[in-house]
Amino acid sequence: MIDPAFKVGEVDDRLFGSFVEHMGRAVYGGIYEPTHPSATADGFRGDVLALVREMGVSLVRYPGGNFVSAYDWEDGVGPERPTRLDLAWHSIEPNTFGTDEFLRWAAVAGIEPLLAVNLGTRGIDAARALLEYVNAPRGTKWADMRPRDEPYGVKLWCLGNEMDGPWQVGQKTAVEYGRLAAETGKAMKWVDPSIELCVVGSSNSSMPTFGSWEDTVLDLTWEIADHISLHTYYDPAKFEDVDAYLRCSQDLDRMIDTVVATADAVAGRKRSRKRIGISVDEWNVWHQTANPHHVGHDGPFKHAPALAEDEHTVADALVVGCLLITLLRHADRVRIGCLAQLVNVIPPIRTSNGGPAWRQTTFHPFAHAARFGHGTVLRVELAGDEVEATAVRDGDGVTVFAVNRSAGTTPLDLVVRDLDLTVTEHLVLDGELGASNTAEHPDRVTPRRVAGAELPPRSWNVLRLT
Ligand code: AHR
Repeated sequence: MIDPAFKVGEVDDRLFGSFVEHMGRAVYGGIYEPTHPSATADGFRGDVLALVREMGVSLVRYPGGNFVSAYDWEDGVGPERPTRLDLAWHSIEPNTFGTDEFLRWAAVAGIEPLLAVNLGTRGIDAARALLEYVNAPRGTKWADMRPRDEPYGVKLWCLGNEMDGPWQVGQKTAVEYGRLAAETGKAMKWVDPSIELCVVGSSNSSMPTFGSWEDTVLDLTWEIADHISLHTYYDPAKFEDVDAYLRCSQDLDRMIDTVVATADAVAGRKRSRKRIGISVDEWNVWHQTANPHHVGHDGPFKHAPALAEDEHTVADALVVGCLLITLLRHADRVRIGCLAQLVNVIPPIRTSNGGPAWRQTTFHPFAHAARFGHGTVLRVELAGDEVEATAVRDGDGVTVFAVNRSAGTTPLDLVVRDLDLTVTEHLVLDGELGASNTAEHPDRVTPRRVAGAELPPRSWNVLRLT
């Protein structure tokens, strides 16, 4: 039973974001490859741009990730582009692609940019200079160095990345980070009061400081924080069996509840009515055990090595579907989401250098959610956890997103109180749980239309009720 009166909240369009980091072949060979046959005059891969638009990505976070924590943004602007060692990914960074290229790519792709500043090796000065470069009108040092007259007007900014992690260049305690983020955020809002700031939350729910980190950081940054980040990846090899893997979204659900409760406890202590948004700005499946070559700090540094180029399966698509449903079910507090990442690195889209680009299995649930998931989320109460589902009401009707985790066909009795609606379209993604798409077979796993409202075994479903 779905009741239009039981509203969870309005979906923020920024929920359907993604992430492009200077990591592996995400930038070089992913969104940018000037020698590719489909390249635009700016060197952007046209085939990737078409898929990004088809996927419905609303926002992209850039330039990292771990990369940003040792990034000197000045290297990536202007005529001189020094080649540097990137310590995060043991790579050679030529800096031919930087802030202006990214913001141009974002405009061409029709997505909102979300920029991160380096709070690992740098701080207030570099952040305020970058913001002046990007958003200030002409007439001052950094704004005058920008290649275009008009400011870019970037609204969303991340204050660093995963500062609690020992893998981060410039790892910090919650107090060290909280103080630096508070002062950096203060200066940035003095440069441009219209921006929104995301402070760094825990890197995942198993961090020893999960919970207390959020409490301390929000306590110290309360005046300037608009959102707090939450990151989470699920590795199929870390679960006992596929049934447990298909339930991993329950961890995200608990994480969101914990961070919301912590943020609201800080608000209570401060007698504040402010409600901090949750920015789930890195989430995905990640085959770290099966495909471990994303780590390592020895051997020669290479330019754009193939890192984390995981091949996503039907099981991964079902998990991504459950994670999307979980984000939607928290639409009252989760305002930003970034599927990490976009191209080649933990990717919904893959490419080969000079060759084709193709959709992975996980592309499809994201594209469906980004297309039909706008409007008001309605509460859906489920009996048991064999089915994960949520409903979104828009001007034309209601869309139900559902994952059938079980190995059997499951009927879905859909009654929408007070509205005369019937199922007029039912899209399904299913198949062998291990099946995937490849360059040779790019459409092996692809959605199909079915009649009726039964959920096939182990399937992702989109039901349009009009
Ligand atoms: O998305 C890959 C990496 O995962 C990011 O750089 C980092 O923030 C996270 O640990």
